[in-house]
Amino acid sequence: MNVVLGITGGIAAYKAPDLVRRLRERGAEVQIVMTSSAEEFVTRTALQAVSGKPIRSNLWDKEAEAAMSHIELARWADMVLIAPATAEVMARIVSGGAPDLLTTICLATEAPIALAPAMNHVMWSNPATQSNREVLEERGIHIIGPEVGSQACGETGAGRMLKTDLIAATVFNLTGGKGEGLLEGRTVVVTAGPTREAIDPVRYITNRSSGKMGYAIASAAAAQGASVILVSGPVNVSEPPGIDMVNVESAEEMYAATHEAISDADIFIAAAAVADYRPTDILQQKIKKNNEGMSLELVRCPDILASVAALDAPPFTVGFAAETENVIRYARSKLEKKKLDMIVANRVGRDCGFDYDENTANALWCDGEKAFPKSSKVDLARKLIELVAEHFYAVSASETQPKLTIISNND
Ligand code: C5P
Repeated sequence: MNVVLGITGGIAAYKAPDLVRRLRERGAEVQIVMTSSAEEFVTRTALQAVSGKPIRSNLWDKEAEAAMSHIELARWADMVLIAPATAEVMARIVSGGAPDLLTTICLATEAPIALAPAMNHVMWSNPATQSNREVLEERGIHIIGPEVGSQACGETGAGRMLKTDLIAATVFNLTGGKGEGLLEGRTVVVTAGPTREAIDPVRYITNRSSGKMGYAIASAAAAQGASVILVSGPVNVSEPPGIDMVNVESAEEMYAATHEAISDADIFIAAAAVADYRPTDILQQKIKKNNEGMSLELVRCPDILASVAALDAPPFTVGFAAETENVIRYARSKLEKKKLDMIVANRVGRDCGFDYDENTANALWCDGEKAFPKSSKVDLARKLIELVAEHFYAVSASETQPKLTIISNND
C-alpha cells in the first residue's frame, strides 16, 4: 500500500518517525510530505532515515517535481494520511485552499483521506474545529481520534493524537487490506469491554476491563479483510472505523446482541469481561443507607461464550481467560469445559492485564499452545488474529474432507 503521510505543525509530530515505522512494518511504502511548521517539531533527517525516501515539502521544488509531480504523488497514493493534523490543516481542507504541497495533494487525490487530529483540548472543542470535523466527515474524510488524555500543554482533555500503532492499524482497515487479507470475505464477531449489572437506578456492578484488547482484536481482524461486528460493553476507547458497532450494557444485552450477530459468523472471539453474577432484582428506587450492613442477592449471568460454542453449527470459537494464578491450567480446563476451538490465557493483576497497553498471552488449543511475549495489545492482537486464521482454515479444511465410512460385518 502506498501511503502519502502528511505531517503538520503540532507537537505530536515528534511521534511521526514511529508512525512511519508502524506503517512500514505492515508493508506500506511511505512518502512523507511535511508542512513548513512541521519542520519546527521533527527533523527531515529522522524522517528520511525511517521512510527511506527524500522528504517532500515544497510545491515549487523543481528537482522534486521533475521526479514525481504533486499530481503523480496524488495518483500514487492508496491513502493520504495526515498525522498529526492541526486545526489549521482541517480548516484549509474544508475551505478547499491549496497553498502548499500537502493541501494540493488532498485536492488532487482520489485516494481515501484520513486525518489524525492532535491539538490542545480547547482548540479541539472549539465550535469552528468541530464544525470543520463534521464537514470533513460528511465529505467522507476519515477522522481517526483524537483520544482523551494528558496533553503536552500540561492540561487534560480530548485532543491527544491516537497511538501510532492504532493509527497504522486503522489506516489498513480503511483500505480493507487491498484484498490481500487472511480473513477476506469472512465475518468475525468480537465481544469486548466489561458489562454493567444494575443494582438500582444509580449503581451497578462492573469490573476493570478497559476493552483495549477486544478493540485491538476487532481492528486486527478488519485489517485482515474480515467484516467485523464488535459487541461492546461501556468503554472509553475510540470506535474503530470500518467496524459494525453494537453497544450494550449488561451481560443479558450482550448475550442477545451476540446471538443476533452470530448467525453468519465464521469466527467468534469473546474478549469481553462479562459479569458472572448480576443482582436478582433491579430496584426501581435508589437504595437508602438505613442499615449498618446490607447484602445483595445475585444470580448467574448467561455464559455467552459457552452458549455460542454449544450451537448446532458453531463458528470457530475463541475465548479469553484472564486469571490471577494458575493461568495455563485454568485456561486449559475452560477450553475443554466450554468446548472452544482456542483460548487465550493472560495474567491479570496489579501491573498487567486490564487497562494496560501491553500484554503477554498464551494461546491454547486441543493439542498445542503458543506463547506470545510482552508486546503492545495492538501487536498482540495482530499476531493472535494470524494464529486464529491459521487454525480456522485448518479446521474448515478438515471438515470439508470426505468422511470415511467403515462398514463392519461383525454384527
Ligand atoms: O469462565 P470465565 O468467565 O473465566 O471465561 C472467560 C471467557 O468466557 C471469556 O472469553 C469471556 O468473554 C467469556 N464469558 C462469556 N460470558 C460470561 C462469562 C464469560 O462469554 N458470562
